[in-house]
Amino acid sequence: MAERDRILVRGCVLHFLDDPGAEDRAGAWQWFDDGGLLIGDGRIRACGPWAEVNAQASGTAVQRFNYPGHLILPGLVDTHMHYAQAEMIASFGHQLLDWLGNYTYPTEMRFADAEHATRMAGFVLDRLLAHGTTTASVFATSHAVSADAFFAAAHERNLRMLTGKVMMDRECPAELRDTVETAERDSVALIERWHGKGRLGYTVTPRFAITSTDAQLAMAGRLFKSRPDLHLQSHLAENVAECARVAELFPGSSRYLEVYERFDLTGPRSIYGHCIHLNGDEHARMAQSGTAQAFCPTSNLFLGSGAYDLASASRAGVRVGLATDVGGGTSLSMIRTLSEAYKVQQMHHAPLSAWRGWYLATLGGARALHLEDCIGNFLPGKEADFVVLDWNATPEMRCRMDTARTIDERLF
Ligand code: GUN
Ligand code: ZN
Repeated sequence: MAERDRILVRGCVLHFLDDPGAEDRAGAWQWFDDGGLLIGDGRIRACGPWAEVNAQASGTAVQRFNYPGHLILPGLVDTHMHYAQAEMIASFGHQLLDWLGNYTYPTEMRFADAEHATRMAGFVLDRLLAHGTTTASVFATSHAVSADAFFAAAHERNLRMLTGKVMMDRECPAELRDTVETAERDSVALIERWHGKGRLGYTVTPRFAITSTDAQLAMAGRLFKSRPDLHLQSHLAENVAECARVAELFPGSSRYLEVYERFDLTGPRSIYGHCIHLNGDEHARMAQSGTAQAFCPTSNLFLGSGAYDLASASRAGVRVGLATDVGGGTSLSMIRTLSEAYKVQQMHHAPLSAWRGWYLATLGGARALHLEDCIGNFLPGKEADFVVLDWNATPEMRCRMDTARTIDERLF
């Protein structure tokens, strides 16, 4: 049967086959200055030099898109963000626990209202797309309607998105509190309604160890492991006061990570935001169990949480993705996030190269979310999920591109 919807796209193409690592290992990426993508039935059929891809398409009807002077990349992947917090970006000062109580929880209360949730879900998804982000792992709020609203809006836009209803049954305002039973019932119903529908996936979402009882964490672990295709997201070791509170609440665990391990909340398809205050053994255990970390530089700077150590995580072999963590994070843009990631790694005297940065924002993120079979690069069979960026989007960029000599410089 002839393929429908054959599309040929021409421009400067970059995608990654592997992590270039701290040494920018050649062979980890493919770069085609005059490149092409051939797409059929919404999937990548070929990626390579324009002349070759064009020849492969000859003889069949194709729709052609030409982007001279533009960079074609796999859609950017934001591995940790809170859509309900977009309206509170840049809420002043203080550190995590005060910020949650003063701004975050009151803002999230508004998402009991389905209309508000629907409006904000549409707004956030449109802005993510405008910034080139086509996949994200997203916290809804503790209200099931907030997850319904986000799933519906993502489905309308045919985006590969993960989200889940936040679980929290203690140490938070009554308006946001659920119970073990309601959290399980709502999550199971959401999984039935949305998981695997179109490009959507469900991610079991206990907020963090402070706001869930032992019984709720145990339920979340059982639910996560109840089928092999669910995801899980939470927060880990973001802030010093948070770590101290976890130690008080879980005296039986010597380290924060151990709490999540004890309740079966780690392993492949799980991802934890921040992971700043961890020791080498914890990085090693996360690598061993296939538990991913989301590096959230703008949030970590804004909330004064600390400087994530990418080199230590990488040496241990942890799957790492990059994330905005809006609204602790200050921008929905993964490009702005990359800029701050570079600076945070400078604090460790290990600046992030352009190659490694773009890897983290694309294939690295897809791997961290265990979505690399579908997205993340342009290997044949993957979903045709890509973005087209303008090298000369602003007068400042045009000015810089005039002097950038190498591909590294242009990408950086
Ligand atoms: N830890 C628990 N909840 C949150 C949240 O909403 N944002 C951040 N940055 N950290 C958290
Ligand atoms: Zn977060």
